[in-house]
Amino acid sequence: MAFLRFDRAMADEIVTKEEVRAMRRSYGDAGLETLPDNPFEAFAMWLKQAHENTIIVEANAMVLSTLTSDSQIETRTVLLKDISEGGFTFFTNYDSRKAHAIDLHSNVSLLFPWYAMERQISISGIAEKISESESDEYFATRPWGSQIGAWASQQSSPLATRAELEQRFEGASKKWPEGSVVPRPPHWGGYRVTPLQIEFWQGRYSRLHDRLRYERANTAADWELNRYYP
Ligand SMILES: Cc1cc2nc3c(=O)[nH]c(=O)nc-3n(C[C@H](O)[C@H](O)[C@H](O)COP(=O)(O)O)c2cc1C
Repeated sequence: MAFLRFDRAMADEIVTKEEVRAMRRSYGDAGLETLPDNPFEAFAMWLKQAHENTIIVEANAMVLSTLTSDSQIETRTVLLKDISEGGFTFFTNYDSRKAHAIDLHSNVSLLFPWYAMERQISISGIAEKISESESDEYFATRPWGSQIGAWASQQSSPLATRAELEQRFEGASKKWPEGSVVPRPPHWGGYRVTPLQIEFWQGRYSRLHDRLRYERANTAADWELNRYYP
């Protein structure tokens, strides 16, 4: 592929520097004086409020960051599907890029960016595969199309044409027609992230935001709740 230049002069034709700089808004005065002792309780409260907020779509979407074997940090969105057993669970393909990264470095971070509420929650912790029976149980609750999609997709592998993906979907739907029981693919399942740090951020006036961070040295230790400068 030819080297493609994109400098300020070119960018100006689309969006000027002044326009980008002016992209800012003032935050409100919804203070964060304190939070419950249990960070999961605090998280559940904020998740529910985000879900009930009509502007926020996919309140349970979170940005997952992982570290690759060549020390690149990569991020992508996944959906939170459970908060239990002291962790945050999502589902994916165990042969995907993220899964290979987690195999090498189980330290990951999760970010819930709820900008419409001037809030974010950032979490860092350790990801581990959940049990096969837990994955089976959740897979069985997925809509048929998503179940067939899990068989059709070789997530993160190169794909020559869209048609190839659709053919794989067709093939799997012939094997398990709508209404039949679709088994969970062996390459598909969940990870649970056991947190070591959970930070709640609430935007406030003059950039004097509130940051409250639950921290613990290891997964067996008690939580401490500390406030940080914004
Ligand atoms: C809103 C949203 C939700 C998503 N949820 C999931 C998910 O729950 N699991 C998943 O594997 N990919 C999900 N994806 C796709 C991932 O962001 C990503 O493209 C895919 O998992 C491949 O990532 P990888 O190649 O880094 O492994 C979602 C994307 C978006 C935008």
